[in-house]
Amino acid sequence: MLLTVEDLSVSYGKDKPPTVTGVSFYLNEGEVLAIVGESGSGKTTVIRALLNALGGGGHFQAEKMLFNGQNLPELSASDWRNLRGKELSMIFQDSGNMMNPVHTIGKQFVEYIQTHSDLGKKAAYDLAAEMLTRMNLPNPENILRSYTFELSGGMRQRVGIAMAITFQPKLLLADEPTSALDVTTQAQIVGELLFVTKGSGTAMIMVTHNLGVASYMADKLMVMKSGRVVDYGKTEEILQNPQSDYTKTLLKAVPEIGGVRFV
Ligand SMILES: Nc1ncnc2c1ncn2[C@@H]1O[C@H](COP(=O)(O)OP(=O)(O)O)[C@@H](O)[C@H]1O
Ligand SMILES: [Mg+2]
Repeated sequence: MLLTVEDLSVSYGKDKPPTVTGVSFYLNEGEVLAIVGESGSGKTTVIRALLNALGGGGHFQAEKMLFNGQNLPELSASDWRNLRGKELSMIFQDSGNMMNPVHTIGKQFVEYIQTHSDLGKKAAYDLAAEMLTRMNLPNPENILRSYTFELSGGMRQRVGIAMAITFQPKLLLADEPTSALDVTTQAQIVGELLFVTKGSGTAMIMVTHNLGVASYMADKLMVMKSGRVVDYGKTEEILQNPQSDYTKTLLKAVPEIGGVRFV
């Protein structure tokens, strides 16, 4: 088992009621889990708890939270530095926001690689270019010379994904990685993301509010509502036999595409 999360709860602020309660899930190596649910249901909170990066005075408790044999709540700051960006990495809704607009993509990508490895500048640059090529970005040298504002949203997301998978993480966390993109680009990026993770045995947790995308990508689904899990299990089982009324309603709302239901 790569990741075990049992009875996770998260609160923002000491005397506040918990935002997320009783969340449990399991992930094997290379498996894809999609977390689905309406805005405010706690999806981002779950992802951030896994990264130990809850903002706003957030703190979590869990019966168990094991990643690759390591007990996450007990890790030191230096353990976290070794883990983040390497074994455990993250893709955001718009990778452009994560990057510095006044430095070229190349400078930031090379720095990122050098922070997490012993590679020299030239080798780091070559690796960055190779990762961009792997994400179907033509002319990687051009992109490395560019600034984030010079790229389209889809290209920025591909750069973000390229960075996140550079060190073949065991687990990739993706928080609505395509929701800022147009539908055609979304579909491409989803396909590429799946291809690169499946190809390297990287497991992924992807937050999305698109149940169609989730069903297409994920081995397992977790449906959240008001900070709780209302359905969790293998994707096909949930699609065929959803337990909660909420999931049933979500499934009814998935549009048919070209006469075929997308799920
Ligand atoms: N930094 C924070 N401080 C206080 N409350 C927060 C913070 N982040 C999220 N919340 C609250 O937690 C709840 C769940 O938010 P979130 O995890 O972002 O949901 P989702 O990603 O499903 O939209 C929301 O009610 C939100 O207001
Ligand atoms: Mg969110």
